[in-house]
Amino acid sequence: MIDKIKEHIAEVEAFIAKSHDEVETFRIKYLGKKGLLNDFFTEFKNVPNEQKKEFGQTINKLKTVASEKVNQLKAALSNEEEVKGIYGDLTRPGEPIELGSRHPISIVKNKIIDIFSRIGFNVSEGPEIEDDWHNFTALNLPEYHPARDMQDTFFIEKPRTVGADVLLRTHTSSVQVRYMENNEPPIRTISPGRVYRNEAISARSHCFFHQVEGLYVDKGVSFADLKQTLQYFTTEMFGKSKIRLRPSYFPFTEPSAEVDVYWGLETETDYKMTKGTGWLEIMGCGMVDPNVLKNCNIDPEVYSGFAFGMGIDRIALLLHQIPDIRMFSENDVRFLEQFKSL
Ligand code: PHE
Repeated sequence: MIDKIKEHIAEVEAFIAKSHDEVETFRIKYLGKKGLLNDFFTEFKNVPNEQKKEFGQTINKLKTVASEKVNQLKAALSNEEEVKGIYGDLTRPGEPIELGSRHPISIVKNKIIDIFSRIGFNVSEGPEIEDDWHNFTALNLPEYHPARDMQDTFFIEKPRTVGADVLLRTHTSSVQVRYMENNEPPIRTISPGRVYRNEAISARSHCFFHQVEGLYVDKGVSFADLKQTLQYFTTEMFGKSKIRLRPSYFPFTEPSAEVDVYWGLETETDYKMTKGTGWLEIMGCGMVDPNVLKNCNIDPEVYSGFAFGMGIDRIALLLHQIPDIRMFSENDVRFLEQFKSL
C-alpha cells in the first residue's frame, strides 16, 4: 500500500498541465472530497499498528506535494495568460495615453500673441521684481503722484532714498520701458506676464493676475492707427468688430481711453456677461505720453506711439464663463482638464 502511495507521489511530481481545466481535474482526483487522499485516510484505520507511522507520513507527503503542485500550476498558468494578454495579440489597439492640457490662461495668452504677431509685433518679457523707475517713475508717475494709489503695490524693499524702491511689478508697462530703453524705433512689441497687486482676494480679484500690454512707436503713429489695431484685435479674438473708446486717464498715455467691445445681447449669457448693456470693457489704451518717450531716450518731436493693456484672466473668465478667478491658481485637475480640446 505504501509503495502505491509513493508511486502517486512520483506521478504528482511529474504532472504538467496546459489549462486550468486540467489542473482542476487533477485537484479533484487527489484533493477532492471523493479523491484519492480521502480514500487513503479512510484506509488508515485498517493499517497494522507498526505500519501506521510510515503510512501516515507518506499520505501527508502526498497531500503536501499535491496541494503545492496545484498552486504552482495555477500561478504559472495565470502568469502565462497575463503575458499573452500584453504581447500575444499584436493587432490589439494601443492603451489610450492621457494627453495633458494647457492652462486656460496660456490658451488665451497664446491666442493674443498669435493675433499680434501677424501684424508685426514681437514678444518681450521682463522681470517680475522691478525697481521704482521701470514700474512708476519712467511711466510719468513720480513719487507722491496720486495715481500711484491706483495700483496697490507689494513692496519688497522701501529704502529712504527716493526712487530706490524694489517691488513686485503692478503692470507689464515696466517691460515696455525696458524695451524702449534698449531698442530704437520702430518698435512693435507685446509684453505678456504676471503682475501683482495688493488687493483682497475674492471671486473677482486676486493679488496676482496676468496682462498683455502692447506698444507701437514710430514716426507718425496716430490715434487712428490705435483704433484700427484694436478693431483688428477684437475681430480676430472675439469675432466682434464693433468697438467704442471711452475717455479715461492713465499717467503714461495722453489722451487715454477705455476700450469696450460690442458683444451683443442675443443669449442669456450675453446678458449676464455685459450686465444687460451689450458692451464689454476689455482694455485700457492711449497715445504714449511724450514724457515717457523722453524718459526712455526717444525723441517725442520725431516719434509718437500708442500703448494698450489688457487682463488675460478677465478675458479667460469671460470667454469660458468661469465663475471664480481663484480657480486659475488652485490647480484642480478636474477644472484644468476641461480645456483639453482647445
Ligand atoms: N498699465 C495699465 C494697467 O495696468 C494698462 C494700460 C496700458 C493702459 C497701456 C494704457 C496703456 O492698468
